Amino acid sequence: MILDKINIVIGVSGGISCYKIADLVSRLSKHENININIIMTKNATQFISPLTFQTLSKNRCIVDMFDSNYDYIDIKHISIAKKADILLIAPATANIISKIANGIADDMLSTVVMASRCIKLIAPAMNNFMYENNIIQENITKLSNNEFEIIPPISGLLACNENGIGKLASVDTIHDIILGKINTIKDFIGKKILITAGPTVENIDPVRFISNNSSGKMGYAIAEEAFLRGADVTLISGPTNIETKFLKIKKINITSCDDMFNIVSNIYKNFDIIIKAAAVSDYKSYNISKEKIKKDKVNNIKYIELIENIDILNYLGKNKQKNQYICGFCMETENLVENAKIKFKNKNLDMIVANDLNEIGAGFKVDTNIGTIITKKDIFFCNKMKKSELSKIILDKIIYDITG
Ligand SMILES: Cc1cc2nc3c(=O)[nH]c(=O)nc-3n(C[C@H](O)[C@H](O)[C@H](O)COP(=O)(O)O)c2cc1C
Repeated sequence: MILDKINIVIGVSGGISCYKIADLVSRLSKHENININIIMTKNATQFISPLTFQTLSKNRCIVDMFDSNYDYIDIKHISIAKKADILLIAPATANIISKIANGIADDMLSTVVMASRCIKLIAPAMNNFMYENNIIQENITKLSNNEFEIIPPISGLLACNENGIGKLASVDTIHDIILGKINTIKDFIGKKILITAGPTVENIDPVRFISNNSSGKMGYAIAEEAFLRGADVTLISGPTNIETKFLKIKKINITSCDDMFNIVSNIYKNFDIIIKAAAVSDYKSYNISKEKIKKDKVNNIKYIELIENIDILNYLGKNKQKNQYICGFCMETENLVENAKIKFKNKNLDMIVANDLNEIGAGFKVDTNIGTIITKKDIFFCNKMKKSELSKIILDKIIYDITG
């Protein structure tokens, strides 16, 4: 099977260690599955010539935001941002770090960063007093709280003759971190995975609705991990405040349980694996008022008449295709394992991931979860961990179940 190349965009800003990035580009470009595009700040071109990067990467080096000769047919900064699987800024000057942390997009590099959703790595390099400056530290913290992974600088004799922290991490370290991101085991190549995530919203009238606290984080984390492991991922998402890191994940937005069912029931037969992490409302309003129900009328309504939504997981279990693997999720507040086992059996699942809403650090909204994974083979109790980590375990167990 021919795999797409991994697109790495390297942003080079104006620090003395710019020259080291030539070595990094030279080494990365030797990997056949990597394509590199370099974006330099204007100040970086004072330290090293774009021609060096152009020659090493075999791609035109971009500096000017308004360079009309560039061969992307659509809007450049958006095309590059979309294309990137990994974006690295190295060296990252105090200036570019602070611009990004404050949402400034006044040149090609900072604009591409703002438009990117991929894995983002930042390798700061600067004088030790600059690095230790509270403002710079606050800006670095802000970046690491916003999905940027910081490759910390090291201590040593700096170009300015000071001894302290601020040297760019070694090229070996940066190279290995990038390869580590790329070389995730591709054990889901050829697998088509359908994942549902987030809440559903069941309208009562144009203003009011029934929903729940699901943030979608668990389903999105599984979708991203599955994508990195080579799966062809379709994500059906209720309304959330998050986005996927990877635009190559096919995302379909829905609102209600009926919307989700209409799509799922049309396409589920095409998938090898279905993971239902969405928190679908069990009930919907019997009458959805076309007009906003007036306040005086609301006061008069003691009950909203509800009807049951279709149980999508149950439907999928009943209509399971040959060799199809179905994983459901359940939230419980009591008798977690017993209740999960009943759902697992009744809904004809291959896996259920149960989480106890009473445990701190589990369930809705938070970035962590405490999962109990039940399969036909065993039951596995996970400690509290990041949803991204739990998604790795879930996928490990699925692939183990499928391939034996
Ligand atoms: C010789 C020299 C070396 C520099 N090295 C660094 C450095 O290592 N890190 C840094 O943050 N700034 C360094 N600067 C300052 C930056 O070049 C300056 O802040 C510039 O505005 C950065 O622009 P840019 O972030 O758009 O590339 C250096 C300046 C000079 C003249």
